[in-house]
Amino acid sequence: MTHHKRLLVIGNWKMNLDYVEAVHLGQQLGVLMKNKPVEHTDVVVAPPFVDLRSVTSIVESERIPVEIASQHVNANDNGAHTGEISVSMLKRLNVKWILIGHSERRSMYAMNDDVVATTLRSVTRAGVQAVLCVGEPTEVRHAGEHEAYVTAQLTSALEGLDEKSRELVSVAYEPIWAIGTGETATSQVVSEMMAHIRSVLEHVSCAHARVLYGGSVNADNASSLVLEGGVDGFLVGGASLKAESFMSIVQTCDDCYDGKR
Ligand code: 13P
Repeated sequence: MTHHKRLLVIGNWKMNLDYVEAVHLGQQLGVLMKNKPVEHTDVVVAPPFVDLRSVTSIVESERIPVEIASQHVNANDNGAHTGEISVSMLKRLNVKWILIGHSERRSMYAMNDDVVATTLRSVTRAGVQAVLCVGEPTEVRHAGEHEAYVTAQLTSALEGLDEKSRELVSVAYEPIWAIGTGETATSQVVSEMMAHIRSVLEHVSCAHARVLYGGSVNADNASSLVLEGGVDGFLVGGASLKAESFMSIVQTCDDCYDGKR
């Protein structure tokens, strides 16, 4: 069965790669994508702030079919926020996507649901595409409370969002126990959570949103997560730092498009 939503694969480089290394990886991605273009998959990379200018330049000058995301943004327009970056600064750099509420921001940098909701509004009001990250910690999963936990994260961010803003939203489900651990969620676990997230999204009039999975994704587990897990793509951490491993996830995704549930 053909699925109507294009797939979306985002490489989250986290706090890795200086600008020279970032440009190098961008160029390598360009070569691989030229050799084997993708048809059904949007490809995005999220470098550290200080690499954004260099990576956007290389992508534009070499016409690499990749869009650029920021890993984070401050919700305020400007002002006394030492060390922070605004949405308008990112827009000037041609950043098209912004990750919001990654679990590492939530757990280590005090990004609570209120800040996530405010940030989501700033990003979408500016017309930039938002990737809302949600996902439960291990103890919540063990207590069987994961669906309620994710529902609360989704509704606090999305409820009351105007229609135009809702169109700019994608969701990434990243269970914290699967991030950087090598312990990927099974297709069964992912498929149940995809169904749950989509029902919540329908409730908040956001049914069109693509729902990605993140957490120890690699070229070996990507196809079953698309075909059986039913994801609309991936948010990839570790495996996005090497051109070959990232592109093999992208290619696998693209090849699975027609077989997706
Ligand atoms: P890993 O793919 O390294 O587990 O990271 C997932 C993630 O947090 C992407 O945002």
